[in-house]
Amino acid sequence: MTVITNIEDLRVLAQKRVPRMFYDYADSGSWTESTYRANNDDFQKIKLRQRVAVNMENRSTATTMVGEKVAMPVAIAPTGLTGMQHADGEILAARAARAFGVPFTLSTMSICSIEEVAEHAGPGFWFQLYVMKDRAFIERLIDRAKAAGCGALVLTLDLQILGQRHKDLKNGLSAPPKLTLPNIINIATKPRWALGMLATKRRQFGNIVGHVSGVDNMGSLSEWTAKQFDPGLNWGDVEWIKKRWGGKLILKGIQDVEDAKLSVQSGADALIVSNHGGRQLDGAQSSIEALPAIVDAVGGQIEVHMDGGIRSGQDVLKARALGAQGVYIGRPFLYGLGAMGEAGVTKCLQILHKELDLTMAFCGHTQVDTVDKSILLPGTFPK
Ligand code: FNR
Repeated sequence: MTVITNIEDLRVLAQKRVPRMFYDYADSGSWTESTYRANNDDFQKIKLRQRVAVNMENRSTATTMVGEKVAMPVAIAPTGLTGMQHADGEILAARAARAFGVPFTLSTMSICSIEEVAEHAGPGFWFQLYVMKDRAFIERLIDRAKAAGCGALVLTLDLQILGQRHKDLKNGLSAPPKLTLPNIINIATKPRWALGMLATKRRQFGNIVGHVSGVDNMGSLSEWTAKQFDPGLNWGDVEWIKKRWGGKLILKGIQDVEDAKLSVQSGADALIVSNHGGRQLDGAQSSIEALPAIVDAVGGQIEVHMDGGIRSGQDVLKARALGAQGVYIGRPFLYGLGAMGEAGVTKCLQILHKELDLTMAFCGHTQVDTVDKSILLPGTFPK
């Protein structure tokens, strides 16, 4: 048995254990996947400055994200179909996040419902909203998130339409995922996964099926998204959602300085610089490259978060240095979940924390809150 020491080890194990259709769904981007790759590659171009003979005792990675205390500036990103990476995936990840003291964001497209996850989640339980044409359904979803005690609403703005993902189309990914004959043959080679799924019988979108009439067999994921998601979504809707929700609002999917300024005007509490993990507009800038200009444009009026390509604690530190108050991880926690369930998500968080803590110390800081651009080598990061 390999000793798991980094996120790549978790990815390799997940690839062995999760049925191909669901592993591919997680580990893919849109079209040529160039933005997906750039998200991480661009982190590697940024160089850190090592300092020595600085007192490195009493270190802390604790800080806040939208006013909530976090053990490190890392939250779990919303990811659809998480319950297909591992039976009860959303519940297990929420439990691991709670124990570690970081926020968990539940996707609209989760397998487990808001109410089921709420029973296990901690104070940092956030809900991510996709806007669909059926506004009465959206209102009910917002009300359910409120009733379940979610501390923030993460409104995703970059998926009015779906970026084409070749692997999902080739694998015939459907919504809800169906156990068809080719799937079953594939699943038969992954007995641990199949037994878990069969035991829980959770193979539906828990927030949707049973809450919207006529939604049981949705067809292919891309067809269903095209039918249900609202391509007409606009800033007026953001205002309406903010009012209906009434709590902390985080806008996800901001890539452009102009949209960042509109986010500030909308009265949101934070924005997330994100390209949806390279799953939407292929050819877009990497998130870490887009971050500094957006931090500049926002000028401290609201918090700036980021996601995309975080694969180590070094990446977390670089994002913090460039002005992100916090980051979100998508694939890293999914790899952990697919590899080892709840223990794998815990392992993922432990790995990131250890790497963040040690790298911060090497750069001459003992508190994550004091880290700024000065830890980066000039000329190696975007201005
Ligand atoms: C996502 N992402 C996403 N975002 C969102 O707002 N709602 C969702 O339902 C999903 N679903 C989803 C599924 C899968 C499998 C992945 C990998 C991603 C995007 C996600 O929240 C986040 O922006 C990226 O995953 C960040 O990039 P990394 O950390 O995966 O590189």
